[in-house]
Amino acid sequence: MNNFKNLRGTVDLLPDQLIKWQNVEKIIIEQLIRSSVKEIRTPILEMTELFMRGIGEGTDVVSKEMYTFLDKGERSCALRPEGTASVARALIQNGISTKPFQKLWYMGPMFRYERPQAGRQRQFHQLGVEFVGYKSVRSDIEIITLAWDILEKLGIKELNLEINTLGNNVDRSNFQKAFVKWLEVNKNFLDLDSQKRINKNPLRILDTKNVQTKKVLDDAPRLFDFLSTESLERYLIIKEKLKLLKIPFIENKNLVRGLDYYTHTAFEITSGSLGSQATVCGGGRYDNLISQMGGTETPAIGFAIGLERIILLSGKELEESRDTDIYIVNKGIHAEILAMELSRKLRNYDLIVELDLSGTSFSKQFKKANKLKSKSIIVIGDDEALKNEFVIRLFNNEYSKNKEETISIKDNIKLEKWVQSNLLLDKNL
Ligand code: HAM
Repeated sequence: MNNFKNLRGTVDLLPDQLIKWQNVEKIIIEQLIRSSVKEIRTPILEMTELFMRGIGEGTDVVSKEMYTFLDKGERSCALRPEGTASVARALIQNGISTKPFQKLWYMGPMFRYERPQAGRQRQFHQLGVEFVGYKSVRSDIEIITLAWDILEKLGIKELNLEINTLGNNVDRSNFQKAFVKWLEVNKNFLDLDSQKRINKNPLRILDTKNVQTKKVLDDAPRLFDFLSTESLERYLIIKEKLKLLKIPFIENKNLVRGLDYYTHTAFEITSGSLGSQATVCGGGRYDNLISQMGGTETPAIGFAIGLERIILLSGKELEESRDTDIYIVNKGIHAEILAMELSRKLRNYDLIVELDLSGTSFSKQFKKANKLKSKSIIVIGDDEALKNEFVIRLFNNEYSKNKEETISIKDNIKLEKWVQSNLLLDKNL
């Protein structure tokens, strides 16, 4: 007996579930193409160091959640926990990080050793978008509206956009100094997790879920008060433009995000229809990441959407797949070859063609075609095959026989006419 099971926090996606995944991916990709965003693919496996430097050693993602191992050459490797650091690396390494104005997207599995629950897995999937080389406030707006539009196109309900600004490096480090000083004085009033974060990742304490700590933090110094005029102005313009575009948002001064590379704009989109794992999208500006990783100074902004959460939220209409257009019933040595030839021909018309490979009785094959609700059935027995012919039966909606026609395999014109007038009519409109 085989006792193998998948690892905790990973899932098998079976054919019926994948219909929804494929529909979701299609809607997303179409919207990205319309927004002239181009795809980039980077390896799932990277040097551990990339994420330690890129995301930050003090972050939970790097310090607690990363899947790392030594390969046979004793190199420390990591399964990517996110895509931004990899994209930055790929652009620097390929000498194109300075190419102006690159809009990029990627989709694929990411890995984080977290406690699995609905909407949270150890292997999960993200759609990520990165606008590299973009500095203007308008790029912040464009990236936020792109995320918003994708989620709306997917029919996700009860969307809430939260925004904040983290200021520039100087603003943040001035705040951090004052904040850490205050935290040390008030250490005993904080929960244990927050106490541990004081030296590792103090900003993260701001978005604690602990009620008592939250209350204590009411008296702490505020990042907002440390923002330079330039950072404040930038933030004000973003809020104004979002209002003009009628994208509803709320300001969350405690939104700091879990990765170290952010500067200025940070945002998250949640859906009220999800339970505790409500964040479907997170992103922000990261103007220093590329230079920190050895590239030239290059401003950038991006976001990532968690696809598992989208699948949980999107509607039943995305579970529908295209029906079979033609089922080819065939029996006999000559019929089998003719059926194969015909199926290849028909697939050139972008029809879904199911070729029966069972070799069982005609009646069994018909039953299978009925079960699939195929719009039409082609029947080929050896008698027809020897004459190089086949019979097409078309069914109307009630699934009763509608039309029948005999066509020669050599008569491409007649076949095309039949296909055009009976199966492709809707598509050509
Ligand atoms: P993040 O906030 O860590 O950002 O992740 C983005 C989204 O991925 C989350 O909002 C959530 O929907 C999904 N997600 C994260 N962890 C899990 C998990 N364990 N299971 C299921 N879904 C999950 C980033 O990763 C940044 N790289 C986003 C970014 C791109 N910022 C700038 N550019």
